[in-house]
Amino acid sequence: MRALRTWRDGHADRRSAQFPYEVVTRHVQRSGKHHLSAQVIEQLVDARRDLAAQDDLLTRFLDCLLDKHDGTYRYDTYLSLPVLRDLVTGPAAVLSPMELAGLLVADVLRFEVEALHGRHDLLPDGRPSVRTVRKRIRHGLGHLYRHGTPSPTRRDWNPEQPEQADEILAALPSSGVPLVRARLAMTVHPVHVLHDEYMFIRILQSYETVFTGLVGSAAEALHRLRAADVAGAAGCLADAATALERAGLLFTLLATMDPSAFRHFRDFTEGASAIQSEYYKRFELTCGTPPGERLSSPAFGSVPVVLEEARHGRDTITRAYLDIRRSNPEMLPALDTALARLERAHQRWKSTHHSLATRMLGDASGSGYTAGVPYLKDCLDNRLFWGIGTDLTTAEVRHADLT
Ligand code: HEM
Repeated sequence: MRALRTWRDGHADRRSAQFPYEVVTRHVQRSGKHHLSAQVIEQLVDARRDLAAQDDLLTRFLDCLLDKHDGTYRYDTYLSLPVLRDLVTGPAAVLSPMELAGLLVADVLRFEVEALHGRHDLLPDGRPSVRTVRKRIRHGLGHLYRHGTPSPTRRDWNPEQPEQADEILAALPSSGVPLVRARLAMTVHPVHVLHDEYMFIRILQSYETVFTGLVGSAAEALHRLRAADVAGAAGCLADAATALERAGLLFTLLATMDPSAFRHFRDFTEGASAIQSEYYKRFELTCGTPPGERLSSPAFGSVPVVLEEARHGRDTITRAYLDIRRSNPEMLPALDTALARLERAHQRWKSTHHSLATRMLGDASGSGYTAGVPYLKDCLDNRLFWGIGTDLTTAEVRHADLT
């Protein structure tokens, strides 16, 4: 409250005062967005009414933070995606999606190690055991290593030992760009105060960033196919497959979440579900127009903007592929390999997601109002490139090890 008042006074005196993004975010991390006091909400609403119109970032930040108050709470605002996304998309992008995806995971590991040593008091309830933190460090560093971050080679980390904790913290990648550090510091707004929600939010954000990269790779592949650059297109599809395959370890990391903590904080996340992820569906749509049954299901009903695009019959990789099959069939083998690999990576992603949801959710319904696990099981039958007729089956896909 004090920080908000100082900021408002600064504005009134025409002194340039920076909105206390980090202080406000830390307050939310100590109380939970669902439990903000009426006084704090009032101050934030006033700030938005009086000043946010002059500042686009502040508007986006407050629209996310006040989503529950405004009745606009959904997946994007829960994850602060409107505040994060322009780091990697559009003309002002300062990072590649894969770089941001890695920084978000590094931030989780930093949060874990510092909590273990009592160096912060954020999301203070339900701290994990030392054993669980060790597992998180192992999976998290393994993931970063697969993304090309130089990682110390030790495999049996004991983060509870102060010197090892410092070694881990020193090894974690961080951004040298102040803008990126500032955005990271203002984009975890948990609904409650349970420790594991921090990791949950960051992993969803990291996946969303990967999906953003997938949309870019798929669009580039389509562009190259239309320019008859089949080798280039195959390269873009291979990039997309690699990104999805590497991201698989994030589910392993998330599987260390305490299911009872998850069930507790999800009491307050009703209405925000990844079924509303526009980039996941946009990627699917760039690969091929989904069959009518899927378009008319909650899968696309939850993303009206993308559904509209699908109804306008936009160009897809499947269509471009079928055109090449008619005109230059000799070009297809390189493409077939890349498409099959991407299809497999996507199937495997869905399969691991389904296993994780089974473990965390049991027979509860989804926060996006589907039946939950049965909905995800049905999704396993969908294929990105169903219109081409690749013969991959669910049975070919190995279930990832979540232990
Ligand atoms: C505790 C972990 C998770 C559980 C229990 C879970 C559960 C679910 C459920 C039940 C649905 C169906 C829609 C609904 O009613 O909400 C769903 C959909 C979805 N989830 Fe998750 N999820 C988890 C983690 C993740 C993560 C980390 C991501 C990565 C972004 C993700 C991405 C998706 C996507 C993209 C869909 C839409 C699938 C489609 O419509 O085809 N989920 N999830």
